[in-house]
Amino acid sequence: MGSFSDRQRRRPTAAVVVTKEQIGQVRDCFDAMRPLRREFAEEFYRRFFELAPYARNMFAQDMEQQKLKLMDTIAALVGALDNPEMFRSIIEQIGHQHAQFGVTSSQLAAFGDALLWSLDRHFGASFTPERRQAWAALYAAVQYDMVQAMAAEPR
Ligand code: HEM
Repeated sequence: MGSFSDRQRRRPTAAVVVTKEQIGQVRDCFDAMRPLRREFAEEFYRRFFELAPYARNMFAQDMEQQKLKLMDTIAALVGALDNPEMFRSIIEQIGHQHAQFGVTSSQLAAFGDALLWSLDRHFGASFTPERRQAWAALYAAVQYDMVQAMAAEPR
């Protein structure tokens, strides 16, 4: 039992596995977009609000800080991909906040769709099926842990 922390024992491990190769692909992409991350976030939120229009009113009118916060969080998650404890503790914190915001699972799905759409648009032909698969695996892991964290939250 010694190798399992209390947290791991309480919860099933993520059903989604991000392989070593996928971690490398996600990191390469993220590094490449870093200089244009504000523009990326802008495009991302535009798409997200098209897919989930009712989510718009949950955010402040001015999204500048929000864009940076989102990109910082993605950076932290990408950095923690090979550290499951750290990955989960980031998600737990976000899950806690987002349960308070009243985020729904369909909004979470739209968030992932908007992310892949924006990556596709940002990278064009160089967003290969393998890279797409790698990001889809990352978001599936985020979504899985987020749903768990939100469900654990008292309402
Ligand atoms: C798993 C994907 C998501 C990540 C990584 C994420 C990340 C973040 C971060 C980092 C913040 C800033 C928190 C702070 O101010 O300290 C935030 C705020 C927020 N997020 Fe998310 N988010 C996600 C999904 C969603 C979804 C699906 C919704 C649905 C509407 C949502 C709604 C909000 C709202 C309403 C705020 C507060 C905005 C404000 O204070 O004006 N998020 N999110």
